Amino acid sequence: MTKHPIRLRVNGEAVDGEVEARTLLVHFLREQLGLTGTHVGCVVGECGACSVLVDGALVKSCLMLAVQADGCAVTTIEGLSTSATSGTPGPPGTLHPVQEAFINRFALQCGFCTPGFVMAAHALLTRNPDPTDEQIRQELSSNLCMCTGYVQIVEAVKEAAARLRGKDAAR
Ligand code: FES
Ligand code: FES
Repeated sequence: MTKHPIRLRVNGEAVDGEVEARTLLVHFLREQLGLTGTHVGCVVGECGACSVLVDGALVKSCLMLAVQADGCAVTTIEGLSTSATSGTPGPPGTLHPVQEAFINRFALQCGFCTPGFVMAAHALLTRNPDPTDEQIRQELSSNLCMCTGYVQIVEAVKEAAARLRGKDAAR
């Protein structure tokens, strides 16, 4: 099978890879880079478990080929605490305010959906720092959770928004 060279940035680091034309971005991230925080659920774009940022845009990485990410900047859940929101890289184990809020509000049970929700919430709050409950529900409607009933997830996003606004105000 012909392999194609790709070069991209993943969580701020330059990455070179060789992939088949059919290799999905989510499989490249998990299997070649070991970034297993990005989960594989439906693989047809329905569940959102595989959500990552590509050049700052929320993308379901099961719907994107790895070769399409050539030249792009990809952020996964592992790199979120070093993302543009927090500015500078933190020490290992540093959590992003969205992650802290999900823990604080008990917005996860099995956790399978959580990386995707956190990435989607981060993308929303980057565009809209003070969303309404309806806007949060609308924005996260492309992510599925089988455990929580979504109430705690909405509360977590609101708490994360408040934390991030407080941080911005303190600058
Ligand atoms: Fe990508 Fe479900 S695995 S949307
Ligand atoms: Fe289990 Fe969401 S916490 S699927």
